[in-house]
Amino acid sequence: MSSVKRQIGFDEAAFDARTAENVVVGGEIVRHRLSSRVIHWTVANTFFLCLLTGLPIWTPVFGWLGNLFGGLSVCRILHPYFGVAFFLASLTMFVHWSREMKMTREERGWVGPRLLAYLRDAENHEKIGKYNGGQKVFFYTSFLASLGLLASGIVGWFPLSFPQGVRIAAIIVHDVTFVLFLVSIVFHIYLATTAEPGTFNAMTRGTVSKAWARIHHPKWYRELLGNGKR
Ligand code: HEM
Repeated sequence: MSSVKRQIGFDEAAFDARTAENVVVGGEIVRHRLSSRVIHWTVANTFFLCLLTGLPIWTPVFGWLGNLFGGLSVCRILHPYFGVAFFLASLTMFVHWSREMKMTREERGWVGPRLLAYLRDAENHEKIGKYNGGQKVFFYTSFLASLGLLASGIVGWFPLSFPQGVRIAAIIVHDVTFVLFLVSIVFHIYLATTAEPGTFNAMTRGTVSKAWARIHHPKWYRELLGNGKR
């Protein structure tokens, strides 16, 4: 069988890398199919609904945002429901992408104090597959954050069901997680739009150019294009 594969020039790595997405069409590569994009934008939209209804509850400085939804008391009612919707969307995204987000041994350098040295080594860049280690770290931490926000949010939603210590801990967890999450989302949006032109297309049209794939995800590019033969 393997000799037949060799004779017809069958490229095993390229075959394994191809699924419903990861398909090369002319100069473009399909990176995210429709289901991935719908799930991602549901996460993003519910995140911003939580943000816009949560900020006026957090501090009067953002009280004016409450007018978008009919006032502070409406925000207080809507915010937990948006929060549950955000968590369910995040859970769906986690399940949907978890197979592709497995951290490989080679990517361990993305985590820990040797990160800068790892990023400076040009050889490591050549090993970047469909997602780089930083994207994978963001994937896992954002899911953990959504879990933390849900757990602490439920305590705040039904405060009389929990002792005072748990209520105080929940407020701290909710606020700290939200601030860190917001910072990472600002960074995520910057990287996905201005910093790396062509990336936003991956989440709107679902495709990227071959040049984009070769620059940012060289190993994925080689797998799809049969080690660059095509
Ligand atoms: C307006 C807001 C957002 C924009 C413009 C945006 C843009 C993008 C783009 C273009 C990608 C594809 C990157 C690639 O294929 O390499 C992506 C992936 C992703 N997005 Fe977003 N996103 C936004 C909001 C969010 C939010 C709120 C979350 C919350 C968790 C999120 C989580 C993710 C994750 C986990 C991935 C996969 C890993 C990665 O590429 O970093 N995104 N996003």
